[in-house]
Amino acid sequence: MQFYRAHVLICGGTGCTSSKSVEIKAEMEKELKALGIDNEVQVVMTGCFGLCEAGPIMIVYPEGTFYSHIKISDVKRIASEHLLKGRVVKDLLYYEAIQQDKIKSVNDVDFYAKQKRIALANCGLIDPENIDEYIALDGYQALVKVLTQMKPEDVIEEVKISGLRGRGGAGFPTGLKWQFAANYEDDMKYVCCNADEGDPGAFMDRSILEGTPHSLLEAMTIAGYATNAKKGYIYVRAEYPIAVKRLEIAIKQAKEYGLLGESIFDTNFSFDIEIRLGAGAFVCGEETALIESIEGKRGMPRTKPPFPAEKGIWGKPTLINNVETFANIPAIILKGGEWFSKIGTEDSKGTKVFALGGKITNTGLVEIPMGTTLREVIYDIGGGCPNGKKFKAVQTGGPSGGCLTSEHLDTPIGYDNLVKLGSMMGSGGMIVMDEDNCMVDIARYFLDFTCDESCGKCTPCREGTKRLKELLDKICTGKGSLEDLDRLEALAYYIQDNSLCNLGQSAPNPVISTLVHFRDEYLAHVIDKKCPTGVCKDLLHYTITDKCIGCGSCSKVCPQGCIEPVGKVINEKTNRRAYVIDSSKCIKCGACMDACPPKVSAIIRQ
Ligand SMILES: Cc1cc2nc3c(=O)[nH]c(=O)nc-3n(C[C@H](O)[C@H](O)[C@H](O)COP(=O)(O)O)c2cc1C
Ligand code: SF4
Ligand code: SF4
Ligand code: FES
Repeated sequence: MQFYRAHVLICGGTGCTSSKSVEIKAEMEKELKALGIDNEVQVVMTGCFGLCEAGPIMIVYPEGTFYSHIKISDVKRIASEHLLKGRVVKDLLYYEAIQQDKIKSVNDVDFYAKQKRIALANCGLIDPENIDEYIALDGYQALVKVLTQMKPEDVIEEVKISGLRGRGGAGFPTGLKWQFAANYEDDMKYVCCNADEGDPGAFMDRSILEGTPHSLLEAMTIAGYATNAKKGYIYVRAEYPIAVKRLEIAIKQAKEYGLLGESIFDTNFSFDIEIRLGAGAFVCGEETALIESIEGKRGMPRTKPPFPAEKGIWGKPTLINNVETFANIPAIILKGGEWFSKIGTEDSKGTKVFALGGKITNTGLVEIPMGTTLREVIYDIGGGCPNGKKFKAVQTGGPSGGCLTSEHLDTPIGYDNLVKLGSMMGSGGMIVMDEDNCMVDIARYFLDFTCDESCGKCTPCREGTKRLKELLDKICTGKGSLEDLDRLEALAYYIQDNSLCNLGQSAPNPVISTLVHFRDEYLAHVIDKKCPTGVCKDLLHYTITDKCIGCGSCSKVCPQGCIEPVGKVINEKTNRRAYVIDSSKCIKCGACMDACPPKVSAIIRQ
């Protein structure tokens, strides 16, 4: 085995590869060769480091030097200065990694300091396309332990002790689900991994698939042993090409090593895994719709019961778990359910991965112990709202979650806590909003998504979400009334109670939570016909005031040509007139307001 004095880890996640990290790696290898140190420094392409907004990211070990926003043209300097001469290139460091004269290692920067990585443990640490690197970090040890030292019921017991709950949304206790699947006897049984991840802005599962695909294969094989299933399916979105490629490589390697396929580790246990590409619809993430899709049918939810554990793929008992749920399994088996259950809170054990997005400084992926407060995630890890803007709300649980306010920031994150506040954990989307966001418009945005994604099978969801959307459109365009608010509320609860699957049942959540927490904004729209944040354009009016000096700057930039000097005379000698906006033609782009000289500021928006 070859030893290297330094390791250069370059992120190969989707975010960084789209900013040329593959080319950066090739450039680094070229430079190291040119300097004659390619035998001393190893370059590794890893999965996502989490802090995607700082990408492309490069970390140099053993010190853990954290370079961010790397360009191909920066590589030469890092190679010759840092890797050859041992001098860190300070101007390329992540801004927080350098404080006065001290250089912080990657694990000391705030973004990582409060995190605890279990599901993401290998992401950003190993080459996901090299099974040996996974094995070197105890990979497949849990499978060895299970197959050689544990009975299937011991495995299920260990998962029960851990207190792990499903990370795909519903939070069902994983050990219990495994128990149900094990209890149903049949000639064929399946294990299925739900890697459909359709929430807009969410990429927790993608990062696990891209960064540590073998964790998933190992966990699914363990689940197969525990439930006596012989075959596994990974249902993954076709829009995740890197994840699919790495899964294919991982399956091939695991088979070559005898870790998948016939007689694993020469035991009489055999298990195989096949990949199925998702059809690109949000509803296909719902477990019964997913089963329909795997069977080659249109992805539409089935009525439950029977649950998949009894009648799943091709009517056979099927265990379905989410990617992140599975990613916790190897650690639970190796370190024990007891160890896992000590992390987190009473009802929510372990850690949770969140995709932080929206108006937040550090956009990216974080894994935190359950019980961490929303404030810690948004401020200590996420760095708060950018540009000094005031925090307004946070949407947890993806498009079907709820919006929470600053009053809720000290809530410890957990399944039951978030539900009590009218939101939910969901699969891990966390979108932050600041003072510039209109909460009525936000509700409309999320409803637009669920309305589009409704599969159409049941009327409350198919028709109800459309009617909800129409009511919100009415309110946002100033045509809403107080009665419409009542209709909105009543319809939202009706859809929640009467839809067939959770898509419909949870689609009204953003409407209900904003009605509860931001009612004053709805009232401003329907009574005052004003949007307090100025987002709803139909409620805006641009007016030129008496301060106008007649310079004409606004008229020059107006794309509609609707500003003319037809106001009162402001200079008798030159007959210069004040400008006036023809509001019937105005499209409310705001270009005039930007063009008016700041000293004058004659244009107001109401
Ligand atoms: C509309 C809809 C979309 C869903 N999308 C996903 C998804 O993308 N990934 C996922 O794991 N679970 C998704 N779920 C939840 C699954 O139905 C199921 O509860 C989950 O895969 C079970 O795994 P877990 O117990 O490990 O969480 C979705 C549910 C609904 C109603
Ligand atoms: S609730 Fe919506 S998505 Fe679910 S089955 Fe009914 S129409 Fe389809
Ligand atoms: S830019 Fe301002 S000051 Fe100049 S004409 Fe327009 S409103 Fe008047
Ligand atoms: S994709 Fe590179 S840090 Fe996330």
